[in-house]
Amino acid sequence: MPTIEMSVSPEDLSQAPRGGERIPEAGILVIFGASGDLTKRKLLPALFHLEQTGLLPADFAIVGVARRPLGEEFAADMRAGIVEFGGVDAGDAKLDHFVKRISYFPLKFDHPADYLGLKVELDRIAVERNIGGGRLFYLATAPEFFAGIIENLGAQGMAQPEQGKVGVVIEKPFGHDLDSARGLNRHVNSVFHESQVFRIDHYLGKETVQNILVFRFANGIFEPVWNRNYIDHVQITAAETLGVEGRGPFYEKAGALRDVVQNHMMELLSLVALEPPSSFEAESVRREKLKVWKAIPSVPVLNAVRGQYGAGAIAGEPVRGYRDEDRVSPESGTETYAAVKLEIENWRWAGVPFYLRAGKRLKKRATEISIQFKQPPLLIFDRLAASAPCQQIQPNQLTIRIQPDEGIALRFGAKVPTTPEMAVCPVNMDFDYAEAFGKSSANGYERLLLDAMLGDQTLFSHRDGVEINWALYTPILEAWANKPPETFPNYAAGSWGPECGDHLIARGGRAWRNNLGRTS
Ligand code: BG6
Repeated sequence: MPTIEMSVSPEDLSQAPRGGERIPEAGILVIFGASGDLTKRKLLPALFHLEQTGLLPADFAIVGVARRPLGEEFAADMRAGIVEFGGVDAGDAKLDHFVKRISYFPLKFDHPADYLGLKVELDRIAVERNIGGGRLFYLATAPEFFAGIIENLGAQGMAQPEQGKVGVVIEKPFGHDLDSARGLNRHVNSVFHESQVFRIDHYLGKETVQNILVFRFANGIFEPVWNRNYIDHVQITAAETLGVEGRGPFYEKAGALRDVVQNHMMELLSLVALEPPSSFEAESVRREKLKVWKAIPSVPVLNAVRGQYGAGAIAGEPVRGYRDEDRVSPESGTETYAAVKLEIENWRWAGVPFYLRAGKRLKKRATEISIQFKQPPLLIFDRLAASAPCQQIQPNQLTIRIQPDEGIALRFGAKVPTTPEMAVCPVNMDFDYAEAFGKSSANGYERLLLDAMLGDQTLFSHRDGVEINWALYTPILEAWANKPPETFPNYAAGSWGPECGDHLIARGGRAWRNNLGRTS
């Protein structure tokens, strides 16, 4: 497909704000579950990127907490992680200084006495490094430990600010259904005030996700057509080529609907659908998101479908089926693919279906939002299309590529040159993040960690948002639990998912857009 390129001028880039004034106060970041993969692969590389850009306070320490009896090897291991996963040069001049900020404290999550020891240790570090009372507790443990850790922090008086900000960051999954999420919220709020709570959805840390609001509200030309008068439907796809990657026990209890649709995809949907917030402050943005979710009526079970991958091939390499994955039941009924059709009952969106699909071991890795516009009211060129190299005139389509090939493409029809007749072909106007701004090594956690340290909740999930999304999906999860799937596995690894996914969208006379990624 022909392409029209757009670019950002070097002058524009040199004037871009660097955010240098957003430096948090002195504090200690305490990571529970620090021996897990997340800390080494994402959190520490992100913290080091903040150090590189001068966004960490001078008086700052990182304390890893986990059950294993580790010592100094923890900091060395984190250093290796920063180099391997953060794209950092092992000889980077700032690395030694940064690693000195890291220490480790062994603790059994369910031993109240250990928390007293932790408090003493944090106070010691604070005095030694002139840090004061600022503390951010990051819960990156298995979810069953969240409640106990929070309770123990409260019991030791560590949840209340003395001289500095105190907050708690909670990784997903936040509950596994409506009741458990409500219970956890009650628990968290009995110890921490809601303004201290940062529920992570790492999608919100992605530049391309934040750019949805910029695209919609820093530009004047899209908003007038951003509604039911011009938009036919919206598709959101989160396709992965990876399988469960050794996370079998976790995934067996989760499944695609809980793992990705109920949180990441609903966040994407809300950003596409919300009304313009009055400012980019937590309160306004969250309020608008909530209004979107509240306007979604319950989903008929018929409008939610599931699948599980069998053996197949990814990029030409054979891969096993889900039921043969490590620590997965050979009769597992867990879905590795889920698709839903949602409606949003408000004036902007009534009658515009939103189709969401997420799956593992699909043909291509791509997370994309595709806004499908309506056909023009009168197709005056249609009858001449037979002579064109393209089969038919296609409606405008705006594609927001969240990852990879981060960017935005707008498809429109253009006259094919030199043909004797008025032949029309679709072309793309394409914005590519890497081309415009250069490749970034940020993993999304930089922004989230920085915001949590600053106490800015805009990019974090609110209690009410979490509950309302569980309320929407819990009935489907229950219906699925009551009716075990009979046809699993129902798609081959490396395909575009089960037939029922295609039927779901075909019922509305539409089809999934499967040429994902940069096509021009
Ligand atoms: C996580 C899920 O929240 O998101 C994983 O638990 C999934 O199963 C991941 O693979 C996808 O995130 P990303 O950033 O790789 O798209």
